[in-house]
Amino acid sequence: MNSLIAILRPLFSFQNPRAWILFTVLFIQILLFINLRSFPTSISRPHHQFPSRRAVIQTAATQNAMVLDSYSKSTPTTTTNDDQCASGKVFVYDLPKFFNQEILDNCDNLNPWSSRCDALSNDGLGQSATGLAGIIPKNLLPAWYWTDQFVLEIIFHKRILNHKCRTLEPESAAAFYIPSYVGLAVGKYLWMNTSTTKDCDHHCEMMLTWLQEQPYYKKSNGWDHFITMGRITWDFRRAKDEDWGSSCINKPGLRNITRLIIERNPWDYFDVGVPYPTGFHPNSSSDVTLWQSFVRDRRRTSLFCFVGAPRRAFKNDFRAILLNQCRDSDGSCRIVDCAGSQCADGTSAITETFLDSDFCLQPRGDSFTRRSIFDCMIAGSIPVFFWRRTAYLQYQNFLPNEPRSYSVYIDRNAVINGTSVVKAVLESYTKEEVKKMREKVIEYIPRMVYAKYNKGIEGIKDAFDYAIDGVLTRFKEQLQPEFHKWK
Ligand SMILES: *[C@@H]1O[C@H](CO)[C@@H](O)[C@H](O)[C@H]1NC(C)=O
Ligand SMILES: *[C@@H]1O[C@H](CO)[C@@H](O)[C@H](O)[C@H]1NC(C)=O
Ligand SMILES: *[C@@H]1O[C@H](CO)[C@@H](O)[C@H](O)[C@H]1NC(C)=O
Ligand SMILES: *[C@@H]1O[C@H](CO)[C@@H](O)[C@H](O)[C@H]1NC(C)=O
Repeated sequence: MNSLIAILRPLFSFQNPRAWILFTVLFIQILLFINLRSFPTSISRPHHQFPSRRAVIQTAATQNAMVLDSYSKSTPTTTTNDDQCASGKVFVYDLPKFFNQEILDNCDNLNPWSSRCDALSNDGLGQSATGLAGIIPKNLLPAWYWTDQFVLEIIFHKRILNHKCRTLEPESAAAFYIPSYVGLAVGKYLWMNTSTTKDCDHHCEMMLTWLQEQPYYKKSNGWDHFITMGRITWDFRRAKDEDWGSSCINKPGLRNITRLIIERNPWDYFDVGVPYPTGFHPNSSSDVTLWQSFVRDRRRTSLFCFVGAPRRAFKNDFRAILLNQCRDSDGSCRIVDCAGSQCADGTSAITETFLDSDFCLQPRGDSFTRRSIFDCMIAGSIPVFFWRRTAYLQYQNFLPNEPRSYSVYIDRNAVINGTSVVKAVLESYTKEEVKKMREKVIEYIPRMVYAKYNKGIEGIKDAFDYAIDGVLTRFKEQLQPEFHKWK
């Protein structure tokens, strides 16, 4: 090594910083090479005692492939399941069919108006969105479905059974998943005027009765258990008999269980917001990148759009104000009027409108969130919010942390009293600013979609992967001595 330095020395002036960098890199590589040569056996034969050290050395070796070319080629890259599941493994309860499969078998009878069998077909993705032919690239058509917004429970169940960190041994699990379709089960009772509070709570009560017999539930008081709830949190929080919904979340048995839910109560630690299912279900990383370039290159003809219907029953409805501003915008705003049922489960008009607009208005609906937020962003349109609870306090890990990097926030009171005009606010953004925000939205598309294939997307993490990583990280944090499990 000394001789090597002696050879190199005349080549560089050490006042030159580039020479220093070069020298440092070379030095590290030489050190690494020497280091590796002194541990040949621990690398070349399968060795399970020090997997992490071996993994580190292997990574380093690959990065230094120039120096160690022949070496890294002869080393098999074996990553074991354990390496990938550093945050722990998930056990999936094998619940009685009453809690999931029977609900699907009953799809004819899940809401008071019509059959839901089409909506729940294709493992919950719904019918193929053939109506998008001619609007989106032909080779992406197989990735689009008319997916219902309330099918989260089916999507998660299907995916988690195939998760790389699923374990069949409860004693080795860090997390326990309860595949109970509580949202689908309560759906019809929410709307039938003949249903009782008992009807609304039946499924949830049965589930808790079953769960409270389980040894691992008893052991943790539910802290390491989680469930998906495919409807908004307010559908499960009935406090008084005459109120709306089921009282599932208020039941003591559910107290310590983490709930992955499409709209959370921002003040409840156990509610974790996850994206609403939308129509785009890519099956490969090329589906994802093709779609990203499609929405990036799209020529957008309107400044903004409004998809929705005013609630005429409410006085001074904010949506009516927005709808009027949209109508008065001299062609800068496009409207898809969803009065009636024409927007249920998506129509091509919605996708096309988002694809054609720079911004989309996202006022609160009956609740704070709407599926439309995700329909909009997946189409590469920039969301405009009027309530902080619509997205910023909802979808941590799935949306960028900095609201201004991907969205516009307009004070609704200023719109109501006439000081803010939406069109003027949006026109004040330069082309460059719009492009930058759109790029942020596009970057986050993978985190907002649910893959088509039940093994996920090779090489890309989707919303489901982020959700499960989040759960495992949270349960790991709960094991830290400084974490206090409150009552
Ligand atoms: C339920 O609704 C139907 C139709 O809307 C109505 O005819 C019926 O009287 C209602 N029943 C109750 C118990 O309110
Ligand atoms: C998705 O891709 C996987 C592998 O890339 C393939 O095995 C599978 O059949 C595809 N699934 C669908 C529904 O296209
Ligand atoms: C309108 O509302 C905004 C936001 O609440 C407030 O700052 C502003 O003073 C109001 N203007 C008028 C004229 O009332
Ligand atoms: C929830 O967890 C707390 C703290 O571990 C425990 O005291 C309480 O009994 C648990 N609640 C239920 C319903 O299990």
